[in-house]
Amino acid sequence: MIPTIEWHGKYVRMIDQRKIPSRLEWFACRGYEDVIRGIQKMVIRGAPAIGVAAAMGLAMGAGSIRTKSYTTFRRKFKKIAGEMLLARPTAANLRWAVERMARLVEDMKTHPVDEIKSALRKESEKILAEDIEVNQKMGKNGQSLVPDRATILTHCNAGSLATGGYGTALGVIRAACENGKKIKVIADETRPWLQGLRLTAFELMEEGIPVSVIVDNAAGSLMRQKKIDLVITGADRIAANGDVANKIGTYQVAVLAKTNKIPFYVAAPLSTIDPTIKNGDMIPVEERGPEEIRQFRKLEIGPIGVHVLNPAFDITPAGYVSAIITEKGIITPPYKARIKNLLE
Ligand code: MRU
Repeated sequence: MIPTIEWHGKYVRMIDQRKIPSRLEWFACRGYEDVIRGIQKMVIRGAPAIGVAAAMGLAMGAGSIRTKSYTTFRRKFKKIAGEMLLARPTAANLRWAVERMARLVEDMKTHPVDEIKSALRKESEKILAEDIEVNQKMGKNGQSLVPDRATILTHCNAGSLATGGYGTALGVIRAACENGKKIKVIADETRPWLQGLRLTAFELMEEGIPVSVIVDNAAGSLMRQKKIDLVITGADRIAANGDVANKIGTYQVAVLAKTNKIPFYVAAPLSTIDPTIKNGDMIPVEERGPEEIRQFRKLEIGPIGVHVLNPAFDITPAGYVSAIITEKGIITPPYKARIKNLLE
């Protein structure tokens, strides 16, 4: 499995996911600003991976603050954390990681600044290690929902590359395969960034898990022909009532699944659940630039000047979600009370 992100001496480096599968190249981050740029420009993407990147970026940013005074350190750290929070708006894991790092700074107020700096770095390493562990637990839990010989549709990339490692939705698929189940995967190509074609297909082929890529608009037809047994996706944010924000196109897959009586599962760690958001309508959905739709590798493929709408995520109402798979177990509707219990 290729690492998504790691410490490299004093610096952080991330696999440049824009280049996969043509090239496997590191994107070096020599300051926290590079991490922010990496998140914004899709060098690293996927909610849990963005959370890990934010934590490492903050640790690196903290390391560059030149002071021995806790008050000055805390003020400068807060400014960096504020910038980090704005990198991308939808993934809950970003805020979750920033808040965890900020809490550490508060808890260590009686310690020398140098100690706080090394604790922040250790915490970022812990967040990475925990994420992999959590995904493995999620895989173990979720694989019980996957029958032997199932054909599974997934959307976007919720694999190792979207996390610290192992993956959420692909983690469940991996675990089912590790359990000896013969699984086939159908990957939506996932316009416009093609995470399904470039990343999911790449990851699964590396592991010898059979995968076929389809254009996004083929899913309904395949479901009607009974060629898909279940759907598993990841999530960028889950509201307190179970509404799910995930890659644009997820909602239509969920509606099609319900119409065709196919289970639609979401695999996500607790860090993706945002209990402060009552329902999906309140989740901020990132709108990205028009060139992502209008161009292909910088070549204009639409009429010059055409207006484009490019929401990067959509909301799937909880009513379409058959179950949410987490590291603490699987929950089914009604979600509100069960999510509350899970987070206690
Ligand atoms: O725009 P992206 O590539 O960051 O979107 C990623 C997704 O929508 C994933 O499905 C989600 O983050 C879950 S990843 C474990």
